[in-house]
Amino acid sequence: MAPVVSIEQLQHHVGETVTLQGWLYHKTGKGRLYFLQVRDGTGICQAVVFKGNVSEEAFQAARQLTQESSLIVTGVVKAEPRAPGIPGGYEVDVQDLQVIQIAEPYPITPKEHGIEFLMQHRHLWLRSSRQWAAMRVRATVVRAIRTWLDDHGFLNVDTPILTPAAAEGTTTLFQVDYHGEPAYLAQTGQLYNEANIFAFGKVYCFGPTFRAEKSKTRRHLQEFWMVEPEIAFCNLEQLMEVAEEFVSYIVQRCLEERGPELRVLERDLTHLQRVSPPFPRLHYDDAVAMINRAAAAGELVPGYPDPVPPMEWGDDFGSPHETYLAAQFEKPVFVHHFPTQAKAFYMEPEPDRPEVCRSVDLLAPEGYGEIIGGSERMSDPDKLLAAIRQHHLPEEVYGWYVDLRRYGSVVHSGFGLGVERTVAWICGLEHVRETIAFPRLLNNLRP
Ligand code: 4AD
Ligand code: MG
Repeated sequence: MAPVVSIEQLQHHVGETVTLQGWLYHKTGKGRLYFLQVRDGTGICQAVVFKGNVSEEAFQAARQLTQESSLIVTGVVKAEPRAPGIPGGYEVDVQDLQVIQIAEPYPITPKEHGIEFLMQHRHLWLRSSRQWAAMRVRATVVRAIRTWLDDHGFLNVDTPILTPAAAEGTTTLFQVDYHGEPAYLAQTGQLYNEANIFAFGKVYCFGPTFRAEKSKTRRHLQEFWMVEPEIAFCNLEQLMEVAEEFVSYIVQRCLEERGPELRVLERDLTHLQRVSPPFPRLHYDDAVAMINRAAAAGELVPGYPDPVPPMEWGDDFGSPHETYLAAQFEKPVFVHHFPTQAKAFYMEPEPDRPEVCRSVDLLAPEGYGEIIGGSERMSDPDKLLAAIRQHHLPEEVYGWYVDLRRYGSVVHSGFGLGVERTVAWICGLEHVRETIAFPRLLNNLRP
C-alpha cells in the first residue's frame, strides 16, 4: 500500500502515489467523474475519481459517499493551482477508494444553522472548517506561549486547581466539597506563583481557571485557560516590556504558521501585522478624560449603535469604553494605574498616590477587549495584612501568602493572559465560545 500522508504534507509528495485517510467533506460531479473534498484533520484536499481510472467497485463506492463518510483513497498527487481545499493547490488522482463507513444523514449541512443548534452539536460542529481553523490557531497560540516563556528564562511551575480561598474576589467562586470542607476551583494561580518566584526567580503557570461569572457576554467563559508569568525583581514598567514582547511573538507565530487557517476565517491581517513592540501606554486618568471628551462630543463607538457613554473616575471600564479606547490606537494599548478600590487586594498602591495602584490591563484592538490583567504586587507584609483585613478576607488562609513578604521580600510583578480572548482576537471571532473545543458558558454544560 502507498504511504499514508497527511493533507498538510501533500506539497512534499507531488508526483508520488499516496494514501489519504479521512472523511468526506463535500462531493460534486456526476456521470463518469466525481470530485471529493476529503478532510483528514490537517486540511482538505480534492480527490478526483474518474470512472476510467478505478475499479467498478471503487467507482460505485464514490457514488454512494455521503457527507462525513469515512474513507481511504490512494492516488497520485498533482499540483493544480485551481484545486480547492485547505491549503488548496493540490489534488489526488484517485486509483483506489475504500469506504470505511457510509455516514448517516449528517445534521450539520452547508446551510445556515442557529447558534443554539450548533452548540448542542458542538461534538460535530468542530469538524466544520471555521471551527477547525480556530482550534489550529489556538494550538499555535498555546505553543507560542510556552516557547517564548521557556526561551526567556521562565520556569513552568503549575499551581493547584483545588484551593481553600478566593484570589480574585469572592463573587465568582465555584465551590466543591473537599472531604467535608469547602474548597474552590482556582480563579488564578497567581498567589502560588508568587511563592514560586522566591524559589525559581521567573515562573509561569498555565492551565484552566474557573469563574462562576453570572454575566452572559461574548468575552466570558466559566472555564478558561490562563497563562500567568510572575517575575521577581520586576516593577510595573518592566512588566509591560515583557508583556508587549510576549504578545507580539504570539501574534507573529500565528501569522507565520497559520496562514491557511486565517484565510479560512477570512481574517483581515492588517491589524495583526502591526503588532510589534512598543505598545502605547495610557494612564487610567487620561483614559477617563479621553472617554469623557468623546462622550461630551457624542462620538460613536465602532460597532455599537450608541455614542461613548460617560464614566466617573473610579469606575471600571465597560465594553464600549474598552472598544473606544482601543480604537484610538493602531496596536494593543496598555492602560495602567487603575483606581485601587476597583482592583484586587494584592496590588501595590502608588506610593505618592495610594488611590491608584500599580496595575495594568492590555486592551486588544478591534473591540476584543482586555486580554491581559496584571500588576506589581504588594511587597510589605504589614500593608498586605491590612489590605486582607480591609477586603474582609479570611486571614488564617492567607497567612502563608503574607509570609512570603517576611523572608527576603522583593519588588515583583506578573500578569495573566486569557487564551480564549487572545484566540478570539487573532482569529477575528465574535464570541469566545468558538475558541475552545467544549466551552463552558453560563447556561451550557453540555456536551
Ligand atoms: O484580569 P484577571 O482577572 O487577572 C488575574 O486573574 C490575575 N491574577 C492575573 C495575574 O496577574 N497573574 O484575568 C486575566 C485575564 C483577563 O485579562 C482575560 O484575558 C482573562 O484572564 N479572563 C477571562 N477569559 C475568559 N472568560 C473569563 N471569565 C475571564 N476572566 C478573565
Ligand atoms: Mg482583569
